[in-house]
Amino acid sequence: MILAANWKMHGSSEHLVSYCEALLPRCESLPHQIVLCPPYPLLPQAVMLCAGSQVQVGAQNCHWHQQGAFTGEVSPWLLVQLGVGWVVVGHSERRQHFGETDGTAAARAKAAQEAGLRVIFCVGETLEERQRGETFEVLQRQLHPLEVLAPTAVVVAYEPVWAIGTGHNASPEQIQQAHQFIQAYMREQGKGEVAVIYGGSVKPENAAEILHTPGVAGALVGGASLDATAFWAIIQAAPQQGGEG
Ligand code: PGA
Repeated sequence: MILAANWKMHGSSEHLVSYCEALLPRCESLPHQIVLCPPYPLLPQAVMLCAGSQVQVGAQNCHWHQQGAFTGEVSPWLLVQLGVGWVVVGHSERRQHFGETDGTAAARAKAAQEAGLRVIFCVGETLEERQRGETFEVLQRQLHPLEVLAPTAVVVAYEPVWAIGTGHNASPEQIQQAHQFIQAYMREQGKGEVAVIYGGSVKPENAAEILHTPGVAGALVGGASLDATAFWAIIQAAPQQGGEG
């Protein structure tokens, strides 16, 4: 399973130290991939603290060029130089507040892959889109530009916008349907078997049900991932099979 902590624009240097002290020793010899995604300024410290541990470090975004005149943007190549292994791309908060489009998200994912980062590519419908019965259409529209990616492993995070930060997670049935759709679509596109993880109000109380839902290969956790004890409880709720299945 893949269990990723998206700290968003939260945390501090002190918090990172105590968090790693609490979490890292517990994660030894787990059959999961644990990914910690703190804000950019904490990445070097996170890489240092996580070195030699089971926990890998991810960024929350990157640009679609490796270098260039793009003031304020972050190069995927530099993230790799830093020791970052993963990147979250196309998060709905980027799409909602920072003008991210399906096209720019896919371009970022491509550049990230070319730099050697593993990509967690976020997709998901808004409440209005779900109520209009457009969920699959939206997922397909968001996934379609990924045709530019090499058919190597991209991880897709299904994150219904209405479930993010709201305390209302999607039901196992809704999750299973969306994950099946994403897997089938990616297979049709020649991308092979794609790991699909779920995000949106995952917490210790609902983690076991969500992580045991067929087709769920892990979780992208926001709010609850800031607390080492809560994130550890979520990790413990994951089925113990290895790999990304
Ligand atoms: P949440 O966020 O767990 O706080 O709902 C998930 C995410 O935004 O990735």
